[in-house]
Amino acid sequence: MTARTRAHDEPGFPQEPDLSPADGGLMDHEVFTREEYLQIADFLRTQTAHRPAVGLILGSGLSALADEIIDADRIEYADIPGFAVSTVQGHSGRLVFGNLAGREVVMMQGRVHAYEGLPMARVTLPVRVMALLGVRTLVVTNAAGGVNPAFKAGDLMLITDHLGLMTMVGGNPLWGPNDDSLGPRFLAMNNAYDRDLRKLALAVAAERGIALQQGVYAGLGGPTFETPAEIRLLRMIGADACGMSTVPEVIVARHMGVKVLGISGISNATIADADSEEEANHEEVLAAGREIAPKLMALIRGVLERLPD
Ligand code: HPA
Repeated sequence: MTARTRAHDEPGFPQEPDLSPADGGLMDHEVFTREEYLQIADFLRTQTAHRPAVGLILGSGLSALADEIIDADRIEYADIPGFAVSTVQGHSGRLVFGNLAGREVVMMQGRVHAYEGLPMARVTLPVRVMALLGVRTLVVTNAAGGVNPAFKAGDLMLITDHLGLMTMVGGNPLWGPNDDSLGPRFLAMNNAYDRDLRKLALAVAAERGIALQQGVYAGLGGPTFETPAEIRLLRMIGADACGMSTVPEVIVARHMGVKVLGISGISNATIADADSEEEANHEEVLAAGREIAPKLMALIRGVLERLPD
């Protein structure tokens, strides 16, 4: 294990539970207990006076949205017990508490993915902790490849539903013992992307002249981009966009009764023709994020302003 260099080693830093990766604590956990989640939530409460009911997760290239938070308390993932730090460029690793569009929010500026070699329990831990901090609505964003041929780079897509290609066949974050005090063993997923929140997002987009596509997000394991045959398969099974995140987080949010609004920023058109000379790459994903971020922010602000209490 690497040496501990984190701020909470320093004298005077508030007492924290002994759960950090450097302790050999939570690093490889496949399962966390309610008690462990609660200890992490209690630790965060000592770091901020904000008490958010809304959580947001920022996808690749969308980190700039966190700069809009007022009265912000920023806490590095490296300083939060159990939180993993992303190894992916374009993902900062901090939790930002504060005020956005008149609401108390907590924003994940960067997320981790299963392809980084982390157990699903670690990928989804921040969502569990946000729910235990009082988050009842989660806005999940991501960068996604456009599978629907009508979509182009820079589009926003309201996620109506997902195809959990990883989680349908294993790799589901709910595999393992179920703690009934967190959520049910068998979870309904037909309203995963809350219909009232979707209506609200569509109304806000129409009012403010923000173009908003709608569609099904296919959650893939990554980190390879798709082959042309895989893209044609995804089209056949009804996907409109694809990416390497979101699905595990949404499953865990629903497990804890948190309502979800999901929005993809289409960062690139995917390639369905084996003879095409184009290639997908992470740089175009990040560049599209810069175009998408202002539109996405306007949409999220509008939703937050009109979100019922
Ligand atoms: N495929 C998978 N994930 C992605 C893509 C893509 O083309 N773009 C951004 N995330």
